[in-house]
Amino acid sequence: MISFFGNGNNRQFQLELQDDKGNYTQEFVLTDVSRREIAPKGLPSAHGNDKTVVFTYTDRVGGLILSAVYTLFSDCDCIAVFHRLENVGNEVYHIRRFSSAQLDLDDTGHTIVYFDGAWARERQQKKILLESGVFSTGSSCGYSSNRYNPFWRIDTPHNGCYAVNLLYSGNHKEIAEATPLGQTRILIGLNDERFDWKLSPGEAFDTPQAVMLYAPNPQKITEQMHVFVRRHILRGKFASADRPVVLNSWEAVYFDFNRKKLSSLARAAKDAGAECFVLDDGWFGKRNNDTCSLGDWTDNEEKTGGLLSFSNELHDMGLKFGLWVEPEMISPDSELYRRHPEYALTGGRTPIITRNQFVLDLVNPDVAEYVLQFMRRLLIDFRIDYIKWDCNRVMTDISSPFAAGGEYAHRYMLALYDIWKRLTSEFADVLFEGCSGGGNRYDLGILCYMPQIWTSDNTDCMDRLRIQEGTLAAYPSCTMSAHVSSVPNHQTGRSSPLFSRFSVAAAGVLGHEYNLLAMSQEEFAQLKSYTEFYKRHRRTLQYGTFRLLESAYGNTYTSWIAIAEDGGEAIATVIRFNEEVNRERGRFRLGGLDDTATYNVTIVGKTQLFTARGDVLNAYGLDLAELFDHDATNEPTALMLLIEKKTTGLYAGTAL
Ligand code: GLA
Repeated sequence: MISFFGNGNNRQFQLELQDDKGNYTQEFVLTDVSRREIAPKGLPSAHGNDKTVVFTYTDRVGGLILSAVYTLFSDCDCIAVFHRLENVGNEVYHIRRFSSAQLDLDDTGHTIVYFDGAWARERQQKKILLESGVFSTGSSCGYSSNRYNPFWRIDTPHNGCYAVNLLYSGNHKEIAEATPLGQTRILIGLNDERFDWKLSPGEAFDTPQAVMLYAPNPQKITEQMHVFVRRHILRGKFASADRPVVLNSWEAVYFDFNRKKLSSLARAAKDAGAECFVLDDGWFGKRNNDTCSLGDWTDNEEKTGGLLSFSNELHDMGLKFGLWVEPEMISPDSELYRRHPEYALTGGRTPIITRNQFVLDLVNPDVAEYVLQFMRRLLIDFRIDYIKWDCNRVMTDISSPFAAGGEYAHRYMLALYDIWKRLTSEFADVLFEGCSGGGNRYDLGILCYMPQIWTSDNTDCMDRLRIQEGTLAAYPSCTMSAHVSSVPNHQTGRSSPLFSRFSVAAAGVLGHEYNLLAMSQEEFAQLKSYTEFYKRHRRTLQYGTFRLLESAYGNTYTSWIAIAEDGGEAIATVIRFNEEVNRERGRFRLGGLDDTATYNVTIVGKTQLFTARGDVLNAYGLDLAELFDHDATNEPTALMLLIEKKTTGLYAGTAL
């Protein structure tokens, strides 16, 4: 279904197109339906599809061909769709809006579930009931943003849910319109605000790919999205590989390190069970704080003692080497800026400065080439196994000599995708982690190149409960980096027990972001044993089926379960917080276990064991009052259960 402006359609429309004389006179008629394998050019797209069907529309007025390309997958209920517009005539056109997908639903009164946020407070679930009128979310800061994630779930007033998402990391817009006539239209795609793409004769324009699905309930939407991401978005050797436990140096030492400190930290990390040491910000140029040196990607040997020798030292210890970079940026106080001030994106004026830095004009081919070259050099020279690709400010001053304002933001993304495509295919053995001031760019587009993302700069386990619940609504655990950090937490000042911090981080790709050298021996030993437990069960925790059991929103408990693909084991976590005095606790009901199977249940970290049938655990659950000590608390307190399907009469558990 395609709607466009100018033909009596009074609803929100998918395509707004004007010819050079200002007319909106297109009149598309369906002229062909065929099977063809096509994907959007220069943009990320889902892979491993079953069949692709192309609906071709021809313009009866001018020389335009419009293709609607639908891709189906045999192993999940998602449909991917993008549109292509070709100018085969002699006129010049301006595309002012071109959404990737349109979904027309019967009825009004749908509830839109969306995920908003800010720095350190990403993907907070919100809901709005739409009985009449227009509701819209989106991003215009150049990146998919922490303000509004492109993922929407639409809960229908009867049964079932729809969902939409976009394979795109730049400006996007989602629109819902419920009309007094009793229909609801959903649109998702590029943000049309200030969008103006000139389509000259002989040119074609492809929208990003969107994904749409239907499922009977929210849990099934999450499950289907997770399957889709794992099988059709992630690619390369890490798509289904066990993700390493990293030690990230950021919250451990920030900019304050030298080689001696790094080496000691690395030895402690190895001892604690980490498998990769990620050297975060501060290793290059003269960077001892965030005021300088972005663009000067040269080893600060005074601090690192030589990156190659550090990398060799790590490899000799049996650790992988990860490095932080922020390739899309330039500091005004940098050698690069002094040599090439024209590399900064200025919009024709003195650009706005944020975190003491400018965005690079990636649309300039020289700049894109410069980024590719220094990244290749780093990856080759320093035996790098892992890259944390950061992007710490939003885009402003959006135009350059290389692209006009109406086209710039999209052309930037095309240039960035080209760089990511080249680097990730040339360095297929390197694990790339996306990051953008925490989770400012968490979307299906970046996941086509980088299989995991730093979820948020907020590592407080209480705050993470909501951030991670919102993230997991659409993106699987194996994409979600989550680190155990020290207390009092650096963002919130809150102190939480180590086991709670571990349990929350274990919902994703676990890491340590901790000054291990400053921990007590007892805490270190605990962290080490928790990490060993995680590694023994990471297949389930990273790739199992995730079920949210109790939401963190509006509750005093939250709980979730990860069930291994073969159903053989599950790990369930319950966290209590903000508990009131003198209130019944209720029950910890599990979900998704095989009703007829018998399970051995171990409380992780304790010796208590019992055996129960799946239906009892699913429907009746466990008594929370017995599981937790009775005191009401403001401290998040966690409990984790290891649930193993019984194959023999004997208990065969692997208690911590
Ligand atoms: C961003 C990232 C952090 C850290 C800092 C370094 O904020 O999200 O994890 O890498 O940059 O400057």
